[in-house]
Amino acid sequence: MRLMYIFGNWKMYLSHEQAKAHAQAIAGIEIPAEAAVAVFPDVLSLVEVRDSLTEADVALGAQNVAWVPQGAYTGATSAALVSEVGCEYALVGHSERRHIFGETNDAVRKKLEACLDAGITPVLCIGETAEDKEHGKQEYRLKKQLMKALDGLVLRDNQLIVAYEPVWAISQGGKGMACEPADVAKTHAWLKEEVKQYTDACIPLLYGGSTNPENVVGYTSLEDVDGVLVGHASTDAARFEAMVRAVHSS
Ligand code: PGA
Repeated sequence: MRLMYIFGNWKMYLSHEQAKAHAQAIAGIEIPAEAAVAVFPDVLSLVEVRDSLTEADVALGAQNVAWVPQGAYTGATSAALVSEVGCEYALVGHSERRHIFGETNDAVRKKLEACLDAGITPVLCIGETAEDKEHGKQEYRLKKQLMKALDGLVLRDNQLIVAYEPVWAISQGGKGMACEPADVAKTHAWLKEEVKQYTDACIPLLYGGSTNPENVVGYTSLEDVDGVLVGHASTDAARFEAMVRAVHSS
């Protein structure tokens, strides 16, 4: 059976009260055996979301972690801390972290190592910008991000996940231009080979960027796509449920 990852990144779209209500709605979703579902709430809501999901087959993830485990780091939340409250996953290097908060490839590498040390599975996000694409630098950008992140890491099967999220395809409040499935198929086939340069381990490869219930099967039915990282559409329980159910058609 092929496992399909359906991950929901709530970003900072929901208030704390909305996040709690949304977690309760998601707890009622029937999860197909072939789906691995996780949600990534804001850090403040992690504990209450976890408590709502105790009976549900939905895992918990953090949107960001600090690379140091503990100490005098004002405003930071470590991988060890999010692991302690039940996170199995953490996003690392999301494009909004890289481009809005100035996260470098070096910081991304340290965060990956911190996640592995804390025993959580990092979801390494990579992707080219519109400018990269325009200047024919897509492969250059992805190669560089992968090399800085993976070179010399020793990984077991499924110990790390890669999410290909072209920066230009990520929606703003649900409005965006998804990457064509044919282009995702091509890039994912290439990325799978690139990743093999660093590890023999099985590394699931997700697509993210303006996915929704209407277009999701176009991605999940592709051979080299192991799932989707959903942003805005994951903040609506009915739409997220429709995407989870879509694994039946993949
Ligand atoms: P989007 O976000 O689905 O709203 O485009 C995806 C992401 O940034 O992970």
